[in-house]
Amino acid sequence: MSDFSAWASAHQSRFEETLKRLLPQPDIMPQRLHAAMRYSVLDGGKRVRPLLAFAAGELAGAPLERVEIAAAAVEIIHAYSLVHDDMPCMDDDVLRRGKPTCHVEYDEATALLVGDALQSLAFQLLSEHLLNEDAATQLQMVRLLAVASGSRGMGGGQAIDLDSVGKQLTLPELEQMHIHKTGALIRCAILLGAHCGHLTQAQFDQLDRYGKCIGLAFQVVDDILDSEADTATLGKTAGKDADNDKPTYVTLLGVSAAKKMAAELHGQAIEALTDLGAPAQRLRELADFIVMRKF
Ligand code: IPE
Ligand code: IPE
Ligand code: MG
Ligand code: MG
Ligand code: MG
Repeated sequence: MSDFSAWASAHQSRFEETLKRLLPQPDIMPQRLHAAMRYSVLDGGKRVRPLLAFAAGELAGAPLERVEIAAAAVEIIHAYSLVHDDMPCMDDDVLRRGKPTCHVEYDEATALLVGDALQSLAFQLLSEHLLNEDAATQLQMVRLLAVASGSRGMGGGQAIDLDSVGKQLTLPELEQMHIHKTGALIRCAILLGAHCGHLTQAQFDQLDRYGKCIGLAFQVVDDILDSEADTATLGKTAGKDADNDKPTYVTLLGVSAAKKMAAELHGQAIEALTDLGAPAQRLRELADFIVMRKF
């Protein structure tokens, strides 16, 4: 196992235990909602956003127990976005992380409430744990997650996505959609990890540039995988974008130009880390993983 794989799997397994502890226990009322929340967050997913937060936290010298909370808040928002994304009124998908989607395993109303409750839980976590000695910084973290997940971030990107079905977007329009629906939360994960520690403003700006590039690259690769990979490997229905008539980097540019675009964004992300030197190595490795992944 490479040094990076060992680093990632150690974080992933410890983080799973953290999530189990932070989510409402399934025997607490309302039991069915709590079971559905746990079903949607636990036991699956690559945990890319938490890994980015851990890497940024290590760069910023942040205490791990603080980064765990920030990472959990972001991953819980992400899980909520997937539950809603899969519902019949959105992408209408039946498979997620190799399991039936939340509304299939439970029911639509429960899936709606799972998303609502996960979103609230994320902000509860950010506000009830000490994440930075400076209260203004912690407040800024709450604001960053709110903006990244709301109508100027993920939620807004999802609205553009739904509005774009059957339409041909221009490249700048598609980029805006992807930056919002996926890029914003990825960028936020990195910044929240770093805010649990201390960096100079210049270092924050470099991290932010990295986050912007790698967040967009992530969705470009998601589009490519949707068109090229198989359902068993992805753990979600392959070919769904074409079925749903969604504009993607693949429909707009074709697979090979989309891959070139992902490679260019990867290069820009790596370049943004130049001045951060050796301590940013995990972020470089995560950029490689995001662009080269097969699922
Ligand atoms: C899928 O995200 C949805 C997008 C924003 C592209 P991930 O590929 O990170 O999904 P999991 O968390 O690993 O299941
Ligand atoms: C989803 O994009 C982005 C979210 C905010 C969940 P997709 O609809 O492409 O994600 P997948 O392919 O279903 O995971
Ligand atoms: Mg979608
Ligand atoms: Mg989808
Ligand atoms: Mg997709």
